[in-house]
Amino acid sequence: MPARILVLGAGGREHALAWRLAKDPERPEVIVAPGNAGMAQAFRRLAVDAEDARAVVELARREAVSLVVVGPEAPLAAGVADALAEAGFAVSGAAREPARLESSKWFAKQLMLEAGVPTAAAEAHDDVSLALAALDRLGPRWVVKADGLAAGKGVRVTSDRAEAQAFVRDCLEGGRFGGSGRRVVLERFLEGEEASVIGICDGERHVLLPAARDYKRAFDGDAGPNTGGMGSFAPTPAVTRDVEQQVSERVMTPILKSLAARGTPYRGALYAGVMLGERGPQVVEFNARFGDPETQSILPLVGGSLGELLARAARGALEPSAIRREPGAAVTLALVDQGYPDDVRGGGVLRGLDAVEREGVLVFHAATEREAGEWVVRGGRAVYLTALGATLESARQRVEAARATLSGSGWRSRGDIAAPHAGIARTA
Ligand code: AMP
Ligand code: GLY
Repeated sequence: MPARILVLGAGGREHALAWRLAKDPERPEVIVAPGNAGMAQAFRRLAVDAEDARAVVELARREAVSLVVVGPEAPLAAGVADALAEAGFAVSGAAREPARLESSKWFAKQLMLEAGVPTAAAEAHDDVSLALAALDRLGPRWVVKADGLAAGKGVRVTSDRAEAQAFVRDCLEGGRFGGSGRRVVLERFLEGEEASVIGICDGERHVLLPAARDYKRAFDGDAGPNTGGMGSFAPTPAVTRDVEQQVSERVMTPILKSLAARGTPYRGALYAGVMLGERGPQVVEFNARFGDPETQSILPLVGGSLGELLARAARGALEPSAIRREPGAAVTLALVDQGYPDDVRGGGVLRGLDAVEREGVLVFHAATEREAGEWVVRGGRAVYLTALGATLESARQRVEAARATLSGSGWRSRGDIAAPHAGIARTA
């Protein structure tokens, strides 16, 4: 079984992956590249440009790794998984072509149509006047998406026509998101409760991990702009066994089949963002990777050997019994720069992280640096706190209690993650 695992990436998701893989029964050595300062406390950290396929292959060879787990989407879109697989490595991460499920929303939409996967009706436009005319057909509530990768910020959902129009113009004329915004996808608004369902796929078959709920909006009560994710919990009660089966049968299986039929099988983690409404699960988006911050809540609930599951899936020989689901629940809070997402300044100070970790709360770093003995905020989403509990409510109370012991300045978190009702914003 994997003796040395390389986790590629530098965020909270990768910290959670590294932490969880290191707990596998085989006790593999986990190394991270490029990693971050927080990860370097527990893992050997190596420098690499994660999007430079040749450099990553060289690193994997030099370290003689038995498995590479690719965290973020950009290396997948850059063909890093293709290069690693070609060099003979087991790689958990989709090849460039199937990763287009995430890197082109229009590709994903077309594949869903072809495969008969339930999703919102949509149109793609690269012409401004045609796009603006289409808004009448589709809204209101308008859903406007930049076609390509935009770090979770390329979607506008609004009832304000002027805002929808401005976003269309920004993408198509203003060069917002660069090449990623040269085409927009306009789609019908879907009502319902959202869930993130991640399957580990071997090209043909898949196994679902516990489903999670993500909070994308910046402020309490789901107010403010979309972000990369302000918190999460798992398992989400919205995804019953029945819903899981529907996602497996109506979403995962047909998509895997279509991609395999095209000669571009999907291997690795496949994330389906679904809206659970009256008509059952409808796909809102695909991501060709583990979710962030869903992973921070999901992986503590996965027992067995995650490394074995991922390595076997990478080789096209899925072994679902490599893992099991642990009882209980997990809640994750993102501690973010005060101005996140629109006005990130950095320089905030996070005090008390070591103490909450000693209390058994998990601390996953993303954008921090250690300066003069303190944890300093160096980006939008700085750190995640994850607490476990026998129930969702006890996990929520535990993570909130841990957060309340932290101090410092220049950071904030949402106060209503996993709460039955919208809570009160909490600021350091
Ligand atoms: P995406 O990046 O495609 O996941 O979109 C970001 C967020 O926008 C989603 O998590 C949803 O909350 C929301 N969203 C996207 N598409 C739709 C839709 N068709 N109907 C309702 N909400 C949507
Ligand atoms: N949390 C949503 C994502 O990973 O894209």
